[in-house]
Amino acid sequence: MRAQRLQEPLIAYILYVPCWGLQHLHNNRIIHRDVKGNNILLTTEGGVKLVDFGVSAQLTSARLRRNTSVGTPFWMAPEVIACEQQYDYSYDARCDVWSLGITAIELADGDPPLAEMHPVKALFKIPRNPSPTLAQPDQWCRSFSHFIGQCLIKDFEARPSVTHLLEHPFIKQAQGKDVALGQQLAALILEQHDQGRQARTKHERINTRKTLIIESSPDDDLVNLEFLDEETIISHLQKRYNELQIYTYVGDILIALNPFQALSIYSPQFSKLYHGVKRVDNPPHIFAAADAAYQGMVTFCKDQCIIISGESGAGKTESAHLMVQHLTFLGKANNRTLREKILQVNPLVEAFGNACTAINDNSSRFGKYLEMKFTPTGAVMGAKISEYLLEKSRVIKQATGEKNFHIFYYFYAGLYHQDKLKSYRLPDKIPPRYIDSQHCKVMQDIVTSKLYKDQFDEIRECFRIIGFTEEEVTSVYRILSAILNTGNIEFAAITSQHQTDKSEVPNSEALENAASLLSIGHEELQEALTSHCVVTRGETIIRTNTVDKATDVRDAMSKALYGRLFSWIVNRINALLQPDMNICAAESGMNVGILDIFGFENFKRNSFEQLCINIANEQIQFYFNQHVFALEQMEYQSEGVDASLVEYEDNRPILDMFLQKPMGLLSLLDEESRFPQATDQTLVDKFEDNLRNKYFWRPKRVELCFGIHHYAGKVLYSVNGFLERNRDTLPADIVVVLRTSENKLLQQLFSSPLTKTGRRRRLHHLRPSLITSIISLPLSVSISIDQTFPEPLHAAKWRRR
Ligand SMILES: Nc1ncnc2c1ncn2[C@@H]1O[C@H](COP(=O)(O)OP(=O)(O)OP(=O)(O)O)[C@@H](O)[C@H]1O
Ligand SMILES: [Mg+2]
Repeated sequence: MRAQRLQEPLIAYILYVPCWGLQHLHNNRIIHRDVKGNNILLTTEGGVKLVDFGVSAQLTSARLRRNTSVGTPFWMAPEVIACEQQYDYSYDARCDVWSLGITAIELADGDPPLAEMHPVKALFKIPRNPSPTLAQPDQWCRSFSHFIGQCLIKDFEARPSVTHLLEHPFIKQAQGKDVALGQQLAALILEQHDQGRQARTKHERINTRKTLIIESSPDDDLVNLEFLDEETIISHLQKRYNELQIYTYVGDILIALNPFQALSIYSPQFSKLYHGVKRVDNPPHIFAAADAAYQGMVTFCKDQCIIISGESGAGKTESAHLMVQHLTFLGKANNRTLREKILQVNPLVEAFGNACTAINDNSSRFGKYLEMKFTPTGAVMGAKISEYLLEKSRVIKQATGEKNFHIFYYFYAGLYHQDKLKSYRLPDKIPPRYIDSQHCKVMQDIVTSKLYKDQFDEIRECFRIIGFTEEEVTSVYRILSAILNTGNIEFAAITSQHQTDKSEVPNSEALENAASLLSIGHEELQEALTSHCVVTRGETIIRTNTVDKATDVRDAMSKALYGRLFSWIVNRINALLQPDMNICAAESGMNVGILDIFGFENFKRNSFEQLCINIANEQIQFYFNQHVFALEQMEYQSEGVDASLVEYEDNRPILDMFLQKPMGLLSLLDEESRFPQATDQTLVDKFEDNLRNKYFWRPKRVELCFGIHHYAGKVLYSVNGFLERNRDTLPADIVVVLRTSENKLLQQLFSSPLTKTGRRRRLHHLRPSLITSIISLPLSVSISIDQTFPEPLHAAKWRRR
């Protein structure tokens, strides 16, 4: 009915029938809660019907009010919106009167007020704006404006009921004339039909450029499906995937399927397309999710958090990049350099923290929480990263078919092509042991792969753009090459008459190389590797290390060097991207955080690292369950809706099994790690004795192994090396030697421990054990989410649009 203006008597007639309907509902203590043009049905005979009772609520004599924020944003009454933020607030049946008033404006003007706005923003504006009016009140009779004014009294206690409205002169004009007005309406509908005009919502089509897929459809949101069982969902997603529609909503959540091919849907054109528009205007997209977070932040002045979850290789990191791309576009600061810097953060950190695994060529081997900082007006002003649980064991050893962290190959190829391998004391024929898991094929790749060389150039650019100095970058390269040389240090046993447990370094070349690159004395390094100090009763005794022990110390030193280097890079990035306090005080800024962790893993052989990764994923799953099911179910219950059919797997018991103190798996592991005599065998026995539940089992006839039934499936873990990896000890002798370095960066790395954001702790704060940092990943994340998550719109609300 957009093509031509409706006459007032017809509008009165179209409103008169729902008024009667609402009076009937309200008399029976039912609130409709979704009155709007789309829910008023006009039949070809000129009949009018109020339809769709999907979010209606039954009031009881004990409970005459409601407090669930439900409805379609533009039509929602201020008091209903207020319930989203204020839990002690409530509303009654007069919220339908407000929606009726908005519908009256919609019938007259063609759209509800604020229709051009993003729905989240509209929700913010409605309670703050004065009551809306017709766009051009002088073109309508005063009685109509008065009727709307009555419906849209902001204080609902002062707003009339529908029974009162039925007495309003504007509505009363339809009384007794329903047959004639019905006929008039039927004729108008017929006329429109003949002219081929169809009542269509503006949301259907917005652009016809062929290169863009811009059609949105009801099956964009799984919530619109009639049946929501697993089979239907999968076949629905499969169908969309076949058409390269990789994104689908399910209420507030965006499902992204990995296309494994480059799609042309991430260009600046698309960023513009998804900028500040209503969600239904375009098909689901990762930019729409980023846009919703940004709009939510600007509109409600509240920090936002985006959580990306999925198994390894699902596309989390790519999605995080795309979010940063869109948020950088949205938060256009005049400062172009800052934007460029922010875009370099992910590639740089990922070169050091990602690696090729059996599942994913670019697998994240650490958890990353990137906060983009904005001014109150939404201009980007800085960024901050927190890193969790870098898989340091990868530095010294990789599983078959896997590789070390990317940076080692990039940097090796870069030095090779610049003919600088010699100055970093690296061989050009036989690759260092730490990167030689593929038996010499590596060297061939390093020499021939254009990708490695290009990546090296890119990383150099990242360092430069973000603001690292030449001196710092050279120090980073020196440490990387020192690690590779350290891996080549070999030990041999010295057997003398009295001693059999002594070791030496028969070939000192690698040792001297490593020491020189680290700017420390090679004799001191050798001593720290092959012996250790013990203080007994005030006396310092030097004990020798066996070959095995020396090898462990060597590898522990390499892991520590890499881990601390990584934290230092994070620290520098944070310092260089710190918001400029002249632009905006830290406390008035807001941020959008993006959590991208390593995905759930189940390899042929799973070790300590997989356990840590999977526990973190278990925590994320718990968070999702809480937000998607548990809270929604509580809301259903408060609405009196039978939610018993909504079954979901609550993974709290598994989490408890891991995290409980003192008898959870992690506490038991920490406890056993403190016993010097403990072995992997005593550890697995301890697990078996104490973890008696259906999620833990010990397979028969497989030594040193246990199984966990995770939310995502059953995983068998090999306990080999669990204790050692959890202890993650670095002998004090090594720390002392490294502190003697003349290299400023190295001095910094070992002068005090670093925090997750790379800041230096004061010395009296001990480095947290690995286990503590596992626990603090998910917990600190969920805390920050709970504090910042804006509780956006629930599925029920969107369902009715
Ligand atoms: N939107 C996309 N478009 C094109 N390719 C994609 C997209 N998302 C993912 N991919 C492809 O899938 C690969 C794996 O994705 P990604 O590294 O993001 O997975 P992940 O979920 O972060 O895995 P992990 O948990 O191992 O870190 C990417 O390297 C890329 O080739
Ligand atoms: Mg990843």
